[in-house]
Amino acid sequence: MAAKLRWPPVLALLLVAGMIGIASAGNIAVYWGQNGGEGTLAEACNSGNYAYVIVSFLSSFGNGQTPVLNLAGHCDPGSGGCTGLTSDIQGCQSQGIKVLLSLGGGGGNYGLSSTDDANSVANYLWDNYLGGSSSSRPLGAAVLDGIDFDIENGNSAHYDDLANALSAFSAQGKKVYLTAAPQCPYPDASLGPALQTGLFDNVWVQFYNNPVCEYTNGDDTNLVKAWGTWTSSVKAGSFYLGLPASTGAAGSGYIPPGELTGTVIPAIQGVGKYGGIMLWSRFYDVQNNYSDQVKGSV
Ligand SMILES: *[C@@H]1O[C@H](CO)[C@@H](O)[C@H](O)[C@H]1NC(C)=O
Repeated sequence: MAAKLRWPPVLALLLVAGMIGIASAGNIAVYWGQNGGEGTLAEACNSGNYAYVIVSFLSSFGNGQTPVLNLAGHCDPGSGGCTGLTSDIQGCQSQGIKVLLSLGGGGGNYGLSSTDDANSVANYLWDNYLGGSSSSRPLGAAVLDGIDFDIENGNSAHYDDLANALSAFSAQGKKVYLTAAPQCPYPDASLGPALQTGLFDNVWVQFYNNPVCEYTNGDDTNLVKAWGTWTSSVKAGSFYLGLPASTGAAGSGYIPPGELTGTVIPAIQGVGKYGGIMLWSRFYDVQNNYSDQVKGSV
C-alpha cells in the first residue's frame, strides 16, 4: 500500500519548480566608491542586496609608480583617511559578502611595463590590501577577498602575469578571488589575454556603452548573442550580466527592471555559467531603487 502514498502531482510539480528556482537564483555584485553621495560601505552591505561589493578604484598603478587609491568623496586615502573602512569591510564579510578592490576604471593612470612590474604590483596588493602586511595599509587591517580587473585603457600587456601572481597567493591560506569587468564586444581590448589564463572566478561583462552588444529599445538579440560568445569562449567560474543601475549610470544599455526579470534573465540564465548581475554603481542603484526591484528574480 506504500505505493499509494504518493505526493499529489501538483505538489510535486511545485517542489520541482521551487528547486529549479533555487538552482537558477543569481547574485548581485555592485561597484562602490566613486560617488560620495552613495552612502557608506556598511549601508551598501546592510541592504542585504549584494553578494559582492567592489571597492573602486585603485586608479594609478604600474610602471614603477606608487599605487593610488581613489574613493572620490568618501575619504582621502593619501592622508590615511580611509583606514576607518576596515570595520565596514569586516562587517560586510561577516554577512558573507565578498569585498574586492577594483584596479583601473575609466580614468586614472595605469599600465604594466613588464612581468617584473606585474609581480611588484601583485606584491604591493598582497601587502597593502590582502593577507600580507604593511605599515600603511590604505583600508586598514581588513583583508579583502580579492582583486577586480576593470582595465579600460586598451593596454592589455602583462595583466595575465598579474593574474598569475595574485592567484599564487591563494596557496598561502585564504583564497584570493579574481574578477574582471570586460566590455561586451568579444574579445575585450584590455582584458583579452588576462582572461585567457582561465584564473578568474567571476567575469562581469559590461553590457553598456556598447550598442553592438547591449540591450536596445526592448531588443535583446545582440545581448543574448554576446552572452553566448562570452560564456562559451572564456573559462571562468561564472559570468555576470553587467548593467547600469539607472539611465544616468551609462550612455546606453539600461534595462528597465521589468524587462530584465521578464525577458532578459530568462533568455540568458540557462546559457553558460550564469552567476547573476553586476551593477554600476551603488550610487545609481540607490537613486533608482534597482536592486530592490530585481533581487528576487535575477
Ligand atoms: C523599492 O522597490 C521595492 C521592491 O519593488 C519596493 O518595495 C519599495 O517600496 C521601493 N522603494 C522606493 C523608495 O521606491
